Amino acid sequence: MDSIQQDITLTLRYSVHFTTGALLPSNGLLRSVIAGPAPARPSDVVFVVDAGVAAAHPALLGAIGHYGRHHGDALRLAAPVLVIPGGETVKDGTHYVDAVHQLIHDAALCRHSYVVAVGGGAVLDVVGYAAATAHRGIRLVRMPTTVLAQDDSGVGVKNGVNAFGKKNYFGTFAAPFAVINDLGFLTTLLHRDWLGGVSEAIKAALIRDAGFFSFIERHAAALVARDAATMAEVVRRSAALHLAHIAGGGDPFELGSSRPLDFGHWAAHKLEQLSDHRIRHGEAVAIGIALDGTYAHLSGSLPERDWRRILDLELALHLPVYEPELDEHLEESEHARSVLRGLSEFREHLGGELTIMLLSRIGRPFEVHQIDTEVMIRSIGVLKHVQASRSTRSAESMLATPLARGL
Ligand SMILES: NC(=O)c1ccc[n+]([C@@H]2O[C@H](COP(=O)([O-])OP(=O)(O)OC[C@H]3O[C@@H](n4cnc5c(N)ncnc54)[C@H](O)[C@@H]3O)[C@@H](O)[C@H]2O)c1
Ligand SMILES: [Zn+2]
Repeated sequence: MDSIQQDITLTLRYSVHFTTGALLPSNGLLRSVIAGPAPARPSDVVFVVDAGVAAAHPALLGAIGHYGRHHGDALRLAAPVLVIPGGETVKDGTHYVDAVHQLIHDAALCRHSYVVAVGGGAVLDVVGYAAATAHRGIRLVRMPTTVLAQDDSGVGVKNGVNAFGKKNYFGTFAAPFAVINDLGFLTTLLHRDWLGGVSEAIKAALIRDAGFFSFIERHAAALVARDAATMAEVVRRSAALHLAHIAGGGDPFELGSSRPLDFGHWAAHKLEQLSDHRIRHGEAVAIGIALDGTYAHLSGSLPERDWRRILDLELALHLPVYEPELDEHLEESEHARSVLRGLSEFREHLGGELTIMLLSRIGRPFEVHQIDTEVMIRSIGVLKHVQASRSTRSAESMLATPLARGL
């Protein structure tokens, strides 16, 4: 027998920039990202834009053309801008992945060319998957346009589309060439998307940074009032936490079974599917956080004060903590329409042993490998009550049981 041991060490490096007016000719950031300080010749670039963003920013498509002409020594628009629908339906199978591949082919892009994706997390996931699989990887510049995409999904190394009724069933791990977070895009978001994206910041804070959680608590009213400077701070700190986790967490491509920054996501992914995506990802994450937080409390690990702070913050931000899909087929945990089935689907997606992150305090996570479905069902009952009364106080009687006291 003979073997050759193969070791490959790879350093991936990309920058996440924060700016406003990224597509104004006077803003040289995109130009320098693509071409550096002294371009020898223009690089080929194609743009894919989220239709919701194009509708909310009617001057955008013209601005892209103008940017290309103004910086013609550094970049060449190799095809007309491709506009694809925004929202989860764009991730439904590979239809729009094919459309982006077609664009890349028609523009005769090579692996030194650039695809610039402008849009919400769903469009970025589609374009990222297409860019990663054409020529085995074309340079991708992401310009996220939602809070969620700027504070989480757009800054990381994952992409994907849904298939067989499962979230992100097709996808790759692929680092972007660069990310440009233009805060100006956020002004046109629907209020539910403006606030929905904050749930990923709360998630990161709960897992990694109790001080950041307090910051969001102190500024909840400003966030509801759409204060741009406060949101800029939330987005930046959340993005930094996600980036630090990817770079320093020891498992950037999620080869193990542990995914700390997927706290609350087993239920979130299932709720998105059960509601046919009526519940948006950010909203589903808010419910997932509330659910696992309540479970952690009822099973005796998270003190009531911390439990209350988590739910009170979500209520203050007008985030949901319950939707009726949580109640379907609860007694049959493997029923396709039971939220509890989300546990086994989550395990399948990650591989290996079921690993769920819980909290012992705000900022202090720990892992469990088993979930007591009785306690989970009771947690859903508590959340139903909290949502109906929009208060954690009134749920007190439901907590004061032997189980809740860990007896
Ligand atoms: N790849 C990852 O690591 C990762 C991480 C978290 C979430 N995600 C994915 O991200 C997706 C959710 O992304 P999202 O929350 O950004 O929502 P989204 O992409 O579904 O967009 C929501 C809606 O907002 C519109 N929109 C986008 N930007 C706008 C703007 N500036 N003004 C007005 N309208 C705008 C879109 O057209 C769409 O209709 C989910 O598919 C989720 O699975 C991916
Ligand atoms: Zn998420």
